[in-house]
Parts: sequence; C-alpha cells; structure tokens
Amino acid sequence: MNISVFGAGDDRIKSAYHASKNIYDNVLTQGSFLSKLYINFFWSGTDDIEVANKILSYIPEDFDGTILDVPVGTAVFTEKKWKSLTKANIICLDYSEDMLDQAKGRLSDCSHISFVQGDVGKLPFENGKCDVVLSMNGFHAFPDKKKAFRETYRVLKKGGSFIGCFYIKGKSGRTDWLVKNILTKKGWFTPPFLTEENLLKVLHKLYSEVECHTDGSIAYYKCRK
Ligand SMILES: C[S@@+](CC[C@H](N)C(=O)[O-])C[C@H]1O[C@@H](n2cnc3c(N)ncnc32)[C@H](O)[C@@H]1O
Repeated sequence: MNISVFGAGDDRIKSAYHASKNIYDNVLTQGSFLSKLYINFFWSGTDDIEVANKILSYIPEDFDGTILDVPVGTAVFTEKKWKSLTKANIICLDYSEDMLDQAKGRLSDCSHISFVQGDVGKLPFENGKCDVVLSMNGFHAFPDKKKAFRETYRVLKKGGSFIGCFYIKGKSGRTDWLVKNILTKKGWFTPPFLTEENLLKVLHKLYSEVECHTDGSIAYYKCRK
C-alpha cells in the first residue's frame, strides 16, 4: 500500500536527501575508510549501528502491534528487524521520495510493511493508532520539531512506546561546528537543535516514563505514553 501526503513545505529537505541518497548508507554505517574517519573525527566515534540496535532491542522479537517508523529513510538500520517482525503491522513514512524508494527496495516483498510519503508534522493517522513510534535520526532533520513531537505523541496509544535517537547540541564543539557549518547548510539538518536538557524537558512533559541516554552527541530514548 502506498499513500502520498504533502505538507512539510520544505523542498530543501527533498533536494538534500536526493543529493545524498547514494552515499547515506555508506557514511552512516562507516562502510569506507573515509566515512570511518569522518565519524571518528566529527562524531567522537559514535557507532550509529550500535545505537540503532540498542533502540531496536526495545521492541520484543514476537511483537504483533502497529509500529510507525518515521522517518524510515533508506531503512538501512531497520531492514533486518522489520523483516523479522512478521506478526507486526509496520508503517514506514518519509518526506523524501528518494529515501522512501530505497526503503521500498529493501522491504517491498513484505506484506506486513507499508509505505507512506508524508510529513511528520501532519501524520495521516487517527489518534492512538500505534503501539510503537520509532523516530531514528529524524528530529535533527525535521523543520517543525514542536509539531513532530505533538504528532508522534498523538498517534501513539496510551501505554505505547516512543523510541528513537537524534543529534543534540552542546556535547562536542567539533560536532556542533560540523552541524552548524556543513550539515545545516546542505539541508540534511534543520535548526533549532535541542540540548540534552531541552530534550529531557520535552519528553518528561509529554510522557509518563522516560529513559534517556547519550552517546557522544546522539541522545537515544525510550518513553511510555
Ligand atoms: C538522517 S535521515 C534518517 C533516516 C533513518 N531513520 C535512519 O536512521 O537512517 C532523516 C530523514 O528525515 C526525513 N525527513 C525530513 N523532514 C521530514 C518530515 N517533515 N517528515 C518526514 N520525514 C522527514 C528525510 O527525508 C530523511 O530521510
């Protein structure tokens, strides 16, 4: 099933992710010497695969509820887990058709997985539809973070889990410099960026249980509505 929804109104994001679609996986998974160097120098060596696996371990192996993966990106970190959760209903949403197409390429043979082109700030789902909302490396890219927190909360069931990770500022001068001077200018990241303190404040305001950790400049969390 494919649904198309428009609304983020920020085609800078589409162009940015169109331009990076062929290098994204290699950089994030440190698939070459240069990307290893980049991660070690600018991101204090934080291993995105390790962080992703920690977050995915919050979802039990026999999970059979509804999961929203927003933004799914290329599904580079979630492919294996989503394929294994055959009893779950998994919805993959992204604003960029280019990124979503790559996720479809990886996951389209799975009948328990569907794809939606849309905006996290205007999710096309009813209140309380999801048991789990996963948002990995999305909030530092989302243009309207307030709406994104509001919408991810709205579509989550009472007792459901909001899990994920993203860049927070204030942990490393080198990372903050890169984000401000390169990643934001390229359109891959969109300010304003949260500090750990800002993030904890938002999560505690919305959720009844909050567990939050940091690894370098990446915060990852598990919250219960
Ligand atoms: C850094 S990628 C993360 C993708 C994936 N979760 C991962 O960890 O590899 C950020 C993604 O956010 C998407 N994005 C940016 N703004 C969005 C919005 N308003 N709604 C939905 N997705 C958005 C981009 O298209 C891009 O695919």
